[in-house]
Amino acid sequence: MRKWLFMLLVVSLFSLPTFSSGDTKATCIVCHNNMVGTIEYQGKQIELNVDGERFEKSVHGFLSCTDCHLRFQENPHQPPSGEVPEELRPIMEKVSLKAKVDPVALVACYNCHQEVYEDVLSSVHGRNITEKQSTDGAFCIDCHGSAHYIVSSEDDASAVSQFKVVETCGNCHGSPELAEKYGIEANVMKSYFESFHGKKHLLGHTKAPTCVNCHGAHAIKTKDDPTSPVFGTNKIKTCGNCHKGANEKFVAAITHQEPGPIPHYAEKGLIILTISVIAFTVTHVLLEAYSDIRDTFFRKKKEVEHAESEELSS
Ligand code: HEC
Ligand code: HEC
Ligand code: HEC
Ligand code: HEC
Ligand code: HEC
Ligand code: HEC
Ligand code: HEC
Repeated sequence: MRKWLFMLLVVSLFSLPTFSSGDTKATCIVCHNNMVGTIEYQGKQIELNVDGERFEKSVHGFLSCTDCHLRFQENPHQPPSGEVPEELRPIMEKVSLKAKVDPVALVACYNCHQEVYEDVLSSVHGRNITEKQSTDGAFCIDCHGSAHYIVSSEDDASAVSQFKVVETCGNCHGSPELAEKYGIEANVMKSYFESFHGKKHLLGHTKAPTCVNCHGAHAIKTKDDPTSPVFGTNKIKTCGNCHKGANEKFVAAITHQEPGPIPHYAEKGLIILTISVIAFTVTHVLLEAYSDIRDTFFRKKKEVEHAESEELSS
């Protein structure tokens, strides 16, 4: 039924005389705004609907569809026929395994965001894709969501906003399987939420660091990489951004590692010690007060008795 409607729509649009390659955005949207549902295309499920209104409100609303879908020059397309610019071709070959239908669109970002793009390619995430030929590493859309609806990171709706980004990283870093596959500490999310920072973050504290304050967003490196902001003494600068006067001793206070038995028992011991001291002090004060009251009361009574007996004997 849906397929039938869809074909009708396509056929009716094909018969419209208005297609030209002039204002491509409007003509692309005419079809894609009205299409509903997903189709299987070369073995992958693709979403054909592009919400025109939402696209217009995104940071890329001023672009033509063909600023990213560079090969879709013919309208209607079938199949895309444009050339891929020479300088984009080698990058496209490296990242195309992350694309579902149009690797050109995924590499087009390079035209306008070259520095960010290179940072991502050099990151632990980018190298996972380009060197290990894996699709596990994060690329633009994994963190920013659909390319059609990207809004400013200052906007609460952004997948990388202050209060969404932790969840976005957690989509992958919350997976024990992924952690095991790459030999990464499995409890990074849990240890973050249990930390002073994570607790403040959950309370809505805007100055509490999220993952990106310590790791960066695009050029994220492994903890053993000397250029990583969490490598060795680099932490002094990283923590120092918020904690003035942070030194080597201070920066050791935050890690994702499971606390070993010594700090664990040291913490428990400290709690027991604190409670004992308080209990001792309170008991001591109470006993002292009691003995004061008793002394005053009995002594007075005794003095009175004593005076009375003296009076009697005289
Ligand atoms: C006449 C309606 C129509 C117009 C106009 C149209 N499309 Fe499509 N589009 C489709 C259909 C149908 C599909 C489903 C797959 C196919 O047949 O290629 C599709 C699929 C796509 C895909 C998925 C990948 C692929 O290769 O199929 C992209 C990307 C796309 N269109 C972009 C565009 C862009 C960009 C424009 C404007 C230049 C545009 N479309 C104009 C109907 C249209
Ligand atoms: C900022 C760049 C950019 C712009 C502008 C853009 N697209 Fe896309 N589009 C992408 C990327 C990236 C993908 C994902 C490609 C992939 O995974 O193969 C995509 C995917 C698609 C798809 C397939 C959906 C899917 O499930 O992946 C369609 C259809 C599509 N775009 C149509 C359009 C239309 C129509 C417009 C204009 C209204 C447009 N795009 C504008 C970057 C863009
Ligand atoms: C033709 C140029 C162009 C292309 C291609 C392009 N962008 Fe952009 N992008 C821009 C411009 C210009 C802005 C800034 C808009 C603004 O400040 O309102 C922007 C903003 C952004 C932002 C910033 C949101 C924020 O926090 O302010 C992100 C994220 C982004 N683009 C991702 C992408 C991705 C991913 C692609 C590829 C799929 C892409 N862009 C392709 C021009 C482009
Ligand atoms: C691991 C997650 C992640 C990946 C992958 C990622 N981004 Fe970002 N991006 C962020 C975060 C988080 C921000 C918010 C600003 C910040 O904290 O630096 C951001 C901000 C941006 C901005 C606006 C601010 C700036 O630094 O210019 C642009 C543009 C951008 N990203 C483009 C891209 C492009 C293009 C890609 C793919 C090549 C990409 N991003 C991949 C997480 C990511
Ligand atoms: C206050 C700074 C800080 C924050 C916030 C932070 N990290 Fe870390 N992260 C570190 C430090 C320091 C290391 C180095 C290894 C260690 O001490 O555990 C690290 C290591 C890591 C590692 C490698 C772990 C390993 O040992 O294999 C991953 C993955 C990671 N962080 C992800 C995240 C994610 C995801 C978030 C957000 C939920 C986050 N980090 C928040 C400081 C931070
Ligand atoms: C799409 C999944 C995905 C997302 C989203 C993602 N990551 Fe990763 N991340 C990975 C994978 C996979 C690796 C391991 C790559 C490798 O070793 O080849 C990794 C590795 C890392 C490492 C290096 C761990 C080490 O060995 O020291 C850090 C740090 C990290 N990610 C932080 C982040 C942060 C911060 C975010 C959010 C801004 C994020 N990641 C989002 C998949 C993801
Ligand atoms: C983006 C800013 C930011 C970064 C980066 C940051 N912190 Fe914090 N940190 C905070 C805030 C905010 C608090 C809560 C302060 C409060 O409410 O008293 C805090 C609290 C703490 C506390 C609890 C005790 C105290 O001094 O208030 C420790 C310990 C701490 N951070 C260590 C670190 C370490 C170690 C690093 C680097 C690995 C780091 N922080 C990085 C913002 C940051």
